Formats: sequence, C-alpha cells, structure tokens
Amino acid sequence: MAIKTLLKKLLNKSGDQPFVADRYWEDRHRFYRGGYKAVGSVELSDAHIQEQTALKQDRIINAIQEEIPNPEGKSLLEAGCGIGLLTPAFCKAGFEVVAVDFSPTAIAEAETRAGDAQFIHASLPNLKLNRTFNVITVIDVLLHITDDDEWQATLKNLARHLAPTGIIVIFEWIGEWRGDLSDHCRMRSMNQYATALTATDLAISKVSQLTLDHEKVTKQILTIRHARD
Ligand SMILES: C[S@@+](CC[C@H](N)C(=O)[O-])C[C@H]1O[C@@H](n2cnc3c(N)ncnc32)[C@H](O)[C@@H]1O
Repeated sequence: MAIKTLLKKLLNKSGDQPFVADRYWEDRHRFYRGGYKAVGSVELSDAHIQEQTALKQDRIINAIQEEIPNPEGKSLLEAGCGIGLLTPAFCKAGFEVVAVDFSPTAIAEAETRAGDAQFIHASLPNLKLNRTFNVITVIDVLLHITDDDEWQATLKNLARHLAPTGIIVIFEWIGEWRGDLSDHCRMRSMNQYATALTATDLAISKVSQLTLDHEKVTKQILTIRHARD
C-alpha cells in the first residue's frame, strides 16, 4: 500500500470522514513526533527532508536579505512554522521572531528548537496580533489551506500584519492542478495568486524558483510588498 494511502487511513480512522485541516495536522504532528515527516513529504527519508530544508532555508534567507540586508532587531512573523525547522535560522539572522501554527504539538516541538522565538498557537485566517512585522514568511503552508475562502482570508490577514515597507516571502508549490493530490493539498496557479492579491493591497515584486530533486517539484519564491510602495 502506498505510504500516502496508509497515512490517510491512519489519520482518518473510518476512511470517509470529511477532511478537517487542523485535526489532520495535529494528528500528523503527533504521529510523526520527533521526526521530519510531520512537515516533509512522507515518501522521503528524514535525511532527504533535512537536505531539502537546508536548501530552502538558504534560498529564503537570501531572498529576505536581498531586501533587508540588516535584519538585526527587525521583526519576522513565521506563518505556519511547523516544528520550527527554519525558526532558528531567522533568529540567528537577527530577527525578533514570532512563529505561529495551529498544531499545539508542532508548537511544543518548535519551542525546543528556537527558545528565542515567541510561539503562538493560532489559525492563519483568524490570526489577530494587533501589530505589524517587517517580514512575514509563509513556507510550504498555503498549499495546505485547501478552502479557497480561508486561503483568500489568510492573504488578506497577512497584509494586515505587514509593516508599510515590509515584505512577505511565500515559498510554495504553485502551478497547474495535478489530479493525484491528497486531501490536505490544493494547487493554485500564479494567476490565481496574482488575482487573489488584487483583493488585498499587496503585489508580487519578485519571483524565483527552487527545484527540489527529492520531491521532484519546482517551487516558487515570491517576494510581496504593499502595492503602494
Ligand atoms: C508542510 S508544513 C511546513 C512547516 C514549516 N513552514 C516548514 O517549512 O518546515 C505546514 C504547516 O502549516 C501548518 N498549517 C496548515 N494550515 C494552517 C493554518 N490554517 N493555520 C496555521 N497553521 C497551519 C501545519 O500545522 C503545518 O505545521
């Protein structure tokens, strides 16, 4: 049986319950606690996921530092931090980091990796921190917000948390729909992103790609700013 099918059975005991995102992620984080499959592809080894995480971390830090060469003391919101694999790099770069995830198990593990960051248990479409950030990162998260209204609400909400001259860095698998996607994934095209952003005051200012050989996909790195800048 394919690993994805087995995981689906394990995380959805009757096999026909409707998909509930926060329950799925909390169950997955518990099931893979202490390993990397909670956040990486379940078909890859932990070593491969670690390798891929290192590659994406370098590219994301570069994308941020191209725009913000002196991060010391600047604020960064890590939206959907998972088990905190990238959080220590943001702290080390000098950012004051606030990291959010809706899985309490993920947050508990992330706290052990990055004691300097502040962790918040919350869902991104409903997040309300009453403050703004110089940088917001959303790394391998938006694909997993499968409900289109929640996806749009998340983009609007991130816009509200972005400082006037701040940047949002989205790292995501963006492209055409592939029929074999799991319940916890929903592909969107670059056009869908561009259209959704017109409903906020955000606009894409830079795009680059990273091909992850183990996952056999090319992911996009979008740098986004307030459109009025
Ligand atoms: C694939 S993992 C990526 C984690 C991390 N960004 C990384 O790259 O290692 C996706 C994470 O997003 C979280 N997540 C998904 N939807 C969310 C939502 N609506 N609100 C908050 N967290 C969410 C999941 O709990 C999970 O930890």
